[in-house]
Amino acid sequence: MKYEMPKLNYPLDGLKPRISEDTMKFHYGKHLQAYTDNLNKLIKGTEFEDKSLEEIVRTANGAIYNNAAQVWNHTFFFETLSPTAKPISGTLKAKLIATYGSIDNFKNQLMTKATGLFGSGWIWLTYNERNQLNIEATTNAGNPLQNNVTPLMTIDVWEHAYYLDYQNRRADFCEAVWDLTDWYLVEERMEKNLFNIYY
Ligand SMILES: [Fe+2]
Repeated sequence: MKYEMPKLNYPLDGLKPRISEDTMKFHYGKHLQAYTDNLNKLIKGTEFEDKSLEEIVRTANGAIYNNAAQVWNHTFFFETLSPTAKPISGTLKAKLIATYGSIDNFKNQLMTKATGLFGSGWIWLTYNERNQLNIEATTNAGNPLQNNVTPLMTIDVWEHAYYLDYQNRRADFCEAVWDLTDWYLVEERMEKNLFNIYY
């Protein structure tokens, strides 16, 4: 099975001015393309050739894991962003306030984790089988599926995600991701608890 590049729900310039078309050309068109091509090369003729992306992320190690997780993470990241992103509301808002005290407090904790992660990685809002929300950081190609939780949203804090637009200002990029995150989709993921779909 050959992995195809995920289709974007918006054009490459659809997230501008917060995320430029140039960034998307490199981030989606070069980085994600390279992870996808590498994954296809690496799994050819191996036990992973006919496995789903989720299975590879959960069971592989080394280069196969790294490239599979980066394909999964980027697919999820780009899917969560939208030019018509909806703000936090409904059951997600209630659950976030119950967990973090306020939306401002949740945002502060998310941003602190995102700006504080040393080096490359990903920041996640996750949901576990006990219906608890958590903010998690994973380094490099880390992916929370390995911990049996449902990812709800993510921020890519690799420099390649923001350097063209924001140079060293990771915090400004994280603000952009916050604003471009479709929180309605995040709420849907929480309500459906995709845990059962991923496993
Ligand atoms: Fe990235």
